[in-house]
Amino acid sequence: MSIFTETYTLNNGVTIPKLGLGTWEIENSQAAKAVREAIKIGYRHIDTAEGYGNEVGVGEGIRTSGVSREELFVTTKLQAAYKTYDEAKAGIEQSLADLDIDYIDLMIIHSPQPWNEFREGEHFFEGNLAAWKALEEFYQAGKIKAIGVSNFEEIDIKNILDNGTVKPTVNQILAHVGNTPFDLIDFCQKNDILVEAYSPIAHGAILGNTQVQAIADKYCVSLPQLCIKYDLQLNTVVIPKTANPAHMASNAELDFTISDDDMATLKAIDSIDYGDASAFPVYGGKINADGSPRE
Ligand SMILES: NC(=O)c1ccc[n+]([C@@H]2O[C@H](COP(=O)([O-])OP(=O)(O)OC[C@H]3O[C@@H](n4cnc5c(N)ncnc54)[C@H](OP(=O)(O)O)[C@@H]3O)[C@@H](O)[C@H]2O)c1
Repeated sequence: MSIFTETYTLNNGVTIPKLGLGTWEIENSQAAKAVREAIKIGYRHIDTAEGYGNEVGVGEGIRTSGVSREELFVTTKLQAAYKTYDEAKAGIEQSLADLDIDYIDLMIIHSPQPWNEFREGEHFFEGNLAAWKALEEFYQAGKIKAIGVSNFEEIDIKNILDNGTVKPTVNQILAHVGNTPFDLIDFCQKNDILVEAYSPIAHGAILGNTQVQAIADKYCVSLPQLCIKYDLQLNTVVIPKTANPAHMASNAELDFTISDDDMATLKAIDSIDYGDASAFPVYGGKINADGSPRE
């Protein structure tokens, strides 16, 4: 069976394709073309964010793909900085307008903290509840089919579970060979919150890893294929990014199974050097309030 037709069912009954196309760092001007290419190859799930600045292009790609809206699944993310109800409501309205695809399949809070305060200790409980309330309203109105969170730790999820009226359907988190948060994945899965694994290829940083390459060679697959399959075997959604149609196609050729022994070896790898990308908050770096890297 093709990976494109495989789905999970979210805790509200909505189905979500297991494989999606990530679009971070795909320029708005290139996004429509990339989305059309991906859909032509067979992708039915596209992951974008207000913060990527490419929702207009992604929406155009969806509308001009030749595939009906109902067959496609589009995720976007509420800016990490929006921690009031009014900011969140305006942000959701902006995403709906920019995407211009009638409704959003899944919208998630990008991060519990604004990026310039990522993992600095403050959890913004009130701010996340205010943003969640806005998401709940658009969900109840049918403009968003499912709502969820991203980069949330257990304590952040408990805040929503204890105080929200709608349960988060997903938590989109960093999870790849070399950096897999097993306890958080376990917590989410026990609470029927689907985990979406982002940066499955470590943002490219794992490409030269000889140990992982040797395992990929055993299965006669590429290193990205092995890494994508690893996340799928952890029962997560996986959203590799590429604007290259050849990579889009090969990243979906996943007709092999990683053995339990090799999964154990891959799970035990616990360090990856993100190189230049380590300046981004999601890889441990810090940015200033204006978005520039912190010295
Ligand atoms: N929620 C969050 O905070 C968050 C954070 C990070 C990412 N994400 C989401 O997750 C998606 C994926 O993460 P990511 O963009 O960090 O990185 P990734 O998917 O782990 O890696 C992307 C890199 O791998 C390369 N690549 C992809 N397929 C390849 C192949 N078959 N052969 C060789 N190189 C290949 C890409 O280059 P080419 O383009 O040249 O193929 C790109 O340089 C993002 O686009 C975004 O949608 C979410």
